[in-house]
Amino acid sequence: MAEIRVEKLHKAFADFVAVKDSTFTVKDGEFFCLLGPSGCGKTTTLRMIAGLELPTSGQIFLGGEDVSFKRASARDIAFVFQLFALYPHMNVRKNIAFPLLSQGMPRAQIDQRVSEAARILRITDLLDKPVSGLSSGDRQRVALGRAIVRQPLAFLMDEPLGALDSEFREVMCQELRALHDRLKATTVYVTHDQLEAMSMADTIAIMNQGVVEQLGAPQDVYERPASVFVADFIGSPSMNFLPFEAALNEGAHTVQIGPAHIDVPALREGVSQRTLLCGVRPEHVTLDDASPLRAEVLGTEYLGTSRIVTLATAQGATLRAKVGVGSAAQRGDQVGLQFDATAVSLFDQASGRALKTARDDRAHTRAANQGARHG
Ligand SMILES: Nc1ncnc2c1ncn2[C@@H]1O[C@H](COP(=O)(O)OP(=O)(O)OP(=O)(O)O)[C@@H](O)[C@H]1O
Ligand SMILES: [Mg+2]
Repeated sequence: MAEIRVEKLHKAFADFVAVKDSTFTVKDGEFFCLLGPSGCGKTTTLRMIAGLELPTSGQIFLGGEDVSFKRASARDIAFVFQLFALYPHMNVRKNIAFPLLSQGMPRAQIDQRVSEAARILRITDLLDKPVSGLSSGDRQRVALGRAIVRQPLAFLMDEPLGALDSEFREVMCQELRALHDRLKATTVYVTHDQLEAMSMADTIAIMNQGVVEQLGAPQDVYERPASVFVADFIGSPSMNFLPFEAALNEGAHTVQIGPAHIDVPALREGVSQRTLLCGVRPEHVTLDDASPLRAEVLGTEYLGTSRIVTLATAQGATLRAKVGVGSAAQRGDQVGLQFDATAVSLFDQASGRALKTARDDRAHTRAANQGARHG
């Protein structure tokens, strides 16, 4: 079993707190992404799991064993920093075999492991070639080979595709995920790219300023963001936020923004008078002349399969709608806006926290967001 469990993990560098009371479980065989903006503590979290950094407090369990203060070399984990870091003077076979050679593994077993890794990565024909002449894709495969020959309990990857252009990155994302599906090895993958995380992960932990704000499957965090930060970070173009003042009772299912009554999922909690945000994704906004929520079209962008319309409401909010390519909306048009009532999220502006609504009744978000900032 190679479950990774992190409990109340905390890391301070002098008086700067890089990771705050982080709690999550990476299930055996799971592809788990740590996602968040630069400086939020992803690498620090990964380095603590690897044993390259000691926690200030908290615990790390690998396969049920407390490894919090074990040396990196005593943890059966492969850390893939940068897929391009190969030994230039060695051929492919030697590059892949290197970690086993340095462990002193018998020759025959090394040969067998290297052949197996090469077969999985489909680079058997490259084994005796020098690494210097390889394409960047093949170099990535060799570097991965070096991690998988060890047959570790878990893989940790820190932005392994960071250096690649976007087209090649997409291909490598698919390959990494396919490789994972073949190996079924527990993987923690760090990225700041939400599309990468959304397309690869079984579970995503979204971090902000050292705190895990939400844990969940890609669809959970997209459809039921726990905070404004998550809602804004996931999705492109990002979610629209329309501020309004209100006090709402539990069970309320409409909110008033300007002259418009907007249907929302029924509230599962009441809130006293305050500024709330009505969050709606661009694909859930439609242009409907009959709607009293008026807006002016500021511009449109043609994207081939859809059109993004940028709008300013009469109340001064800017938002974007993702509409069909056939939409006739043009800059300067006055239009009405309609939201898909089942897909709206509501947030408390001051705390950034999402209000509980009927949408959450279906929530599968794991572990009830342990350690989440907004509790
Ligand atoms: N050894 C250190 N000493 C002091 N501060 C550090 C140290 N390592 C990291 N930090 C700080 O901790 C914070 C989190 O760093 P970390 O490298 O974990 O972020 P990250 O999420 O991986 O960011 P990026 O996407 O830029 O790689 C940053 O503000 C960083 O400057
Ligand atoms: Mg980092």
